[in-house]
Amino acid sequence: MIFRQLFDQASGTYTYLLASRPGGEGLIIDPVLDKVDRYLQLVRELDLKLVKALDTHLHADHITGLGALRDRTHCITVMGEQTKADVVSMRLGDGDKLSIEGLTLNAIYTPGHTDDSYSFVMPDRVFTGDTLLIRGTGRTDFQNGDPRAEYESIFGRLLKLPETTLVYPAHDYKGDTVSTIGEEKAFNPRLQVKSVDEFVDVMINLKLPNPKMMDVAVPANMKIGLAQDEIARRGWAVKAQAAQRMIGASEVALIDLRERGERERHGEIPGSMHLPYASLPESIQEGGVLYQLARSTGKRLLFYCAFGERSAMAVQAAQEAGLTASCHIDGGLDAWKKAGGPLAR
Ligand SMILES: [Fe+2]
Repeated sequence: MIFRQLFDQASGTYTYLLASRPGGEGLIIDPVLDKVDRYLQLVRELDLKLVKALDTHLHADHITGLGALRDRTHCITVMGEQTKADVVSMRLGDGDKLSIEGLTLNAIYTPGHTDDSYSFVMPDRVFTGDTLLIRGTGRTDFQNGDPRAEYESIFGRLLKLPETTLVYPAHDYKGDTVSTIGEEKAFNPRLQVKSVDEFVDVMINLKLPNPKMMDVAVPANMKIGLAQDEIARRGWAVKAQAAQRMIGASEVALIDLRERGERERHGEIPGSMHLPYASLPESIQEGGVLYQLARSTGKRLLFYCAFGERSAMAVQAAQEAGLTASCHIDGGLDAWKKAGGPLAR
């Protein structure tokens, strides 16, 4: 496995780059906007293809690199389903899996620091975001933070992991880079409490100043969605309502770009063909399945995904590949459901 821990000095943020092999797919966790050039250089140097960018929660101390990475690499942005970010490509819930080639992370909902905080578990390690820090815990005094929820997330979830599990947090201000669950259980001063009330007491009496960047970072991190207007302006978008009238039409091929887990959990539009976003590049090239479908049948390709981001990027790529009748459902399955569109399971 390729594993890199990268540091942003200005915010004390740790960013992680993971891949199962050189030349394979890469995942980045908690990227910082100012460091995007550095990440992309490293991605090139390691010969990786960045396919997913994940934020463990909506950050208050730095501007996320999610949007910039998506714009520059066409990767998928990922956050928890509770996030206040306007649009991310994929939202995960407790128990969902986040996969790239050769690697799978289990998402566990660990609110408390914020109400959209998730941790991501691998067999030997856990990315704890700001829920559990090295010899500390994430503050709980803004962004719907809740010390009781944090206690439950730490004691009820994270500390239940095997003691040898490596702990990789989203921040450190003292220079520590990694810990273990066993070490934190024994030596984290905030966890040496006898009850949830004692923990709450500690947390509400921290009296920390607000992060310097908070007034800038939070609004910026809530507005990271891909601008889909340009796609619509070119006539490549179909509103969910109008898409309902196209379903079943013989001249339309409806293509679901989501992953299997998303389809199983959220249902699908009846009659859609499944082609995950990751396999799009080869399928729209000459000889690829979508290319052949569009060329041999003259069908119009109608892409959709969860929120319209993957499909917007897919339309652009398909158009560039010469499949000029491609379009997508604006706002994805989310918009489809809101418009009362039928679902198949
Ligand atoms: Fe945070």
